[in-house]
Amino acid sequence: MQKSKVYIETYGCQMNLADSEVVMGILNSQGYAITQEVKDADVILLNTCSIRDNAEQRIYGRLGNLKALKDKKPQIVLGILGCMAERLRKDLIEEKKVVDLVVGPDEYRRLPEFIDAAFGGEKGIGVKLSRSETYDDILPFREDGLHAWISVMRGCDKFCTFCVVPFTRGRERSRSLESIVNEVKMLGARGFREVTLLGQNVNSYLDEQNDFADLLAAVAGVNKKMRVRFSTSHPQDLSNKLLYTIAKNENLCNHIHLPVQSGSNRILELMNRTYSIEHYLTLIDKARKIIPGVSFSTDIISGFPTETYEDHLATLDVMQKVKYDGAYMFKYSPREGTKAFKMEDDVTEETKSKRLQEIIALQQQISFDVNQRLLEKKEIILVEGASKKSDDFLSGRTDSNKVVIFPRQANIGEGDYIEVLIDRATSATLFGSVVSVIDKKELSEIRLAV
Ligand code: 5AD
Ligand code: SF4
Repeated sequence: MQKSKVYIETYGCQMNLADSEVVMGILNSQGYAITQEVKDADVILLNTCSIRDNAEQRIYGRLGNLKALKDKKPQIVLGILGCMAERLRKDLIEEKKVVDLVVGPDEYRRLPEFIDAAFGGEKGIGVKLSRSETYDDILPFREDGLHAWISVMRGCDKFCTFCVVPFTRGRERSRSLESIVNEVKMLGARGFREVTLLGQNVNSYLDEQNDFADLLAAVAGVNKKMRVRFSTSHPQDLSNKLLYTIAKNENLCNHIHLPVQSGSNRILELMNRTYSIEHYLTLIDKARKIIPGVSFSTDIISGFPTETYEDHLATLDVMQKVKYDGAYMFKYSPREGTKAFKMEDDVTEETKSKRLQEIIALQQQISFDVNQRLLEKKEIILVEGASKKSDDFLSGRTDSNKVVIFPRQANIGEGDYIEVLIDRATSATLFGSVVSVIDKKELSEIRLAV
């Protein structure tokens, strides 16, 4: 019998990308084939995001398109996975008649069972959250490539008042260090050159005696030619031990994503962020001393309830002080079930938009300035392939995750580490020329040689 084909579409954060690979791993091992083409699929799964209302609206829009497909091919099974499944549960099946199954982030092992039932015409709902599920033993399904996402912990216990994640993904729990190290070894053997360790709050990683710094050191030790990144960090748990570990291991990238959310202490308190701006800035200074050349990116929310113009100016001020490499910037979106949902959403849409535009414009200016400082400097990059705009150029990324475009050369290909001289920079992209190919050396030697 021909295998049933599964197509999965992923929305939202990188954790969802990693989860989709786990889902494909589970289904593939149960005899399903994975397809990249929606038109060939017997099963269509949307792995969804609830973080802001516009994320959910996009998915409703997509469900509208898929309804047309299902009208033509009624035997197709259509499933909603991820945060929206967890948040909306039964309502989703009742309101959206096209949906056959709704499965939350901790119930993916039951997917084959739900899909079988759905082929028989039954609707399925699996939305229990677990205190222990980490999918530790599941081998994620990945195409060959250079870069892999590895989920190392799940859930979040921080309860920032604006955030729905603790409700859709449940309590924090970590995978075993051993299983993560084994996965990285396998990826190294398959030719992967970079991994990003993922969690809603990776610094809270804990496996018996091993904290996140221990995990990073162990992963960095697997293969010195593999770059290691991580995301996301909470300012409350960025320990000295972690900073020294990054400084010591050459293949741990010198880049920290450290969401600040707001520059105002009053707003930070209302958000339950558990740090003050003074503490945050001290942390940045300390990291810069311990890890020379470290760069930062951040998340910012504009228009949280009661935010005044002065609070907004404080956010612009912290951006000026830190000089982030980049930022993800959002308008506050009230989420049902969160503490902030009970506060009045009193900043008008117009004010939120205006403030957000100011934040975006300032960040663009800062990114431009930060990039100009790299002119005439040498950077080591991992080559990723042809540039988006032209086959005559190749593209790679620096340690701090910046894209560098350079003229194609026959002796340079995907997965090579090369040294480039930066000769032009915009706010988003660096342009350079090749200095040397240094692929065969250990990364530690590379850095010393620069
Ligand atoms: N509204 C706007 N932005 C939000 N984020 C989380 N919840 C909300 C919300 N309700 C942002 C935060 C977080 C990032 C992943 O998404 O900045 O760090
Ligand atoms: Fe949400 Fe805060 Fe947890 Fe991040 S740390 S997932 S913003 S509750």
